[in-house]
Amino acid sequence: MAQEYRRAYAQATENPSQFWLQAAEKLEWERMPSIAVDESRAPLYSWFPDGELNLSANALDRHVAAGRGDQAALIYDSAMLGTSTTYTYSQLLQQVAVFAGVLRERGVQAGDRVLIYLPMIPQAAIAMLACARIGAVHSVVFGGFAPKELAARITDCAPVAVVTASGGIEPARRIEYLPAVAEALELAQPEVRDVIVAHREGFEHGTCEYDGQSFNGHRVAWHDWDRLAAHAEPADPVPVPSTHPLYVLYTSGTTGTPKGVVRDTGGYGTALQFSMNAVYDVHEGDVMFTASDVGWVVGHSYIVYGPLIAGAATVLYEGKPVGTPDAGVFGRIIQEHKVTTMFTAPTALRAVRKADPGGGLLTGHDLSTLRALFVAGERLDPDTYHFAVSLLGVPVVDNWWQTETGWPIASNPLGLEQLPAKAGSPTTPVPGFDVQIRDVLGEAVPAGGEGNIVVKLPLPPGALTTLWGNDQRFIDTYLSQIPGYYLTGDSGFIDEDGYLFVMGRTDDVINVAGHRLSTGAMEQVLASHSAVAECAVIGLADELKGQRAAGFVVLKSGVQITEEQLRAEIVAMVREHIGPVADFRQVQVVAALPKTRSGKILRKTMRQIADGQDYVVPSTIEDASVIEALLPVLRPEA
Ligand code: COA
Ligand code: AMP
Repeated sequence: MAQEYRRAYAQATENPSQFWLQAAEKLEWERMPSIAVDESRAPLYSWFPDGELNLSANALDRHVAAGRGDQAALIYDSAMLGTSTTYTYSQLLQQVAVFAGVLRERGVQAGDRVLIYLPMIPQAAIAMLACARIGAVHSVVFGGFAPKELAARITDCAPVAVVTASGGIEPARRIEYLPAVAEALELAQPEVRDVIVAHREGFEHGTCEYDGQSFNGHRVAWHDWDRLAAHAEPADPVPVPSTHPLYVLYTSGTTGTPKGVVRDTGGYGTALQFSMNAVYDVHEGDVMFTASDVGWVVGHSYIVYGPLIAGAATVLYEGKPVGTPDAGVFGRIIQEHKVTTMFTAPTALRAVRKADPGGGLLTGHDLSTLRALFVAGERLDPDTYHFAVSLLGVPVVDNWWQTETGWPIASNPLGLEQLPAKAGSPTTPVPGFDVQIRDVLGEAVPAGGEGNIVVKLPLPPGALTTLWGNDQRFIDTYLSQIPGYYLTGDSGFIDEDGYLFVMGRTDDVINVAGHRLSTGAMEQVLASHSAVAECAVIGLADELKGQRAAGFVVLKSGVQITEEQLRAEIVAMVREHIGPVADFRQVQVVAALPKTRSGKILRKTMRQIADGQDYVVPSTIEDASVIEALLPVLRPEA
């Protein structure tokens, strides 16, 4: 295997302190760290414990100070509005400093949480960086989540302020955000003092005269962003300890209660600077276009913080890969903004291929500036990989990671050197991640054998330091099964060349169109329907979205309801409780669910049958005839 990569990987594994202290030097510190990792609370680790810095200063001020103030920093491209606006580093710094001043004047202090519920508009990035500037901890919630999910997050992290907008624009409809926020605040009964609203034209509540006191009778103080900003004093960056939480980002686990992944400041900044250069090969003056959403980790790391820390320009895109207006929109953006590096999800590429199999709409644009396409969020299947390679003629790089890790665990490290690609594999572990395959007992699995993918502790800088307010849940969920290792929740294998293949989750997390969702949370909703005795939700293979959720329900005896009515009611309930992003449509009534003798539903067996895979019925099954009875439902075409 190639030398540059091998050397960096060996250094990061054999002498992590030296490797990461050296990487940290690329940031601007108020106080340079002298210690790499604090192991005194193992298995909880913290990076650069004696360092102090500010990430907003690293993302903005230092580039302006270096004379790059006139360079593009953020390009807001809205396919929904047909507009594009560029903010230079100086302009973005000015906006961020003013909004940081707004937050400070509203009494937000270092360590306070600020919840951000915004569509893909510049205010999202501005609000995040403004929080970082004053040491406030942001928690961004994806706009496609319903008020109940928003409320759960407000309850968990107890923000003092919520930053939102009057609305978001989806291709088929406009989304009024304020009623959703008001409903969430009612449900959460939080200590939120202020709601700050970014005004957008064309929304029912967009021109509301907030009186600083109420909105539709809600007593929290509601404010107009622009009005507050007009009078605010810009705020300077406040240095915080490296270990200070930068943000909490909620992600789905097996249960219905989302997990608040806590990200530190100095470790994350160091990891992003390193990955921008070593993995994505993005440097000052480059243009990165990450077609994701600030509500996901990809958006945090590679729309907002990563490109700006690296001194590149970032494209913040409000739109879809297809239909806004067509499957050529990514090409239009690459051409118009001279994009050097693009990042998207495989599902978006499949959507492009479905709408325009030849890809001519995309390649009809001038793509000559593009050096590489990165994809993540779900496995890049070989078909989609070959489609993208033949379309673009540049390296197409699958990178595997998670909300928890904050940056890629495995990827072709283009900035170190380009390793030969293997379709279906995100290549090899990135320096800093000691990836191993273990069986259920924690024993090492030989090359080629499938098992749990684990990472040796300590995780490198940038990975989660804990779950918000719950060290024990962090330890129980990720660190206890195999002592000394972090359990990723994915299964896979490493081949004889050291290439990793990620095959799927070992838990009840599914991935719908690159969106991570919990089947457990959906089951809770189904189970709350008055006609349902018990239920199972599983993720089935879906040609476009990778996976889709399917619900199987057993009715209470004597209940009179048609399957059609039940389906309509349950679909509406999932939309109301979890949100449209779950894209939940399939419900089937069955006589019984297959279970083990201890009562565990055999979801994996059901999924294998439905997906047409070989399946083994576990010997622990309570009643094998239940599987027989389910076959026509799960495999209707057989
Ligand atoms: N706010 C409110 N609602 C949202 C939303 C948001 N930010 N994002 C999605 N939704 C809604 C959609 O309007 C849709 O609602 P509908 O059922 O009323 O039509 C529903 O959630 C599902 O949306 P979506 O997942 O976008 O599916 P789609 O069928 O409209 O589009 C794709 C399919 C493949 C084009 C789309 O899923 C996509 O762009 N995927 C890429 C995802 C991605 O980049 N993920 C990043 C992970 S790295
Ligand atoms: P999220 O936390 O939303 O980023 O989702 C993380 C999960 O998505 C991982 O644990 C994987 O199951 C899946 N995933 C993300 N990227 C990839 C990839 N490149 N290959 C395979 N699975 C992926």
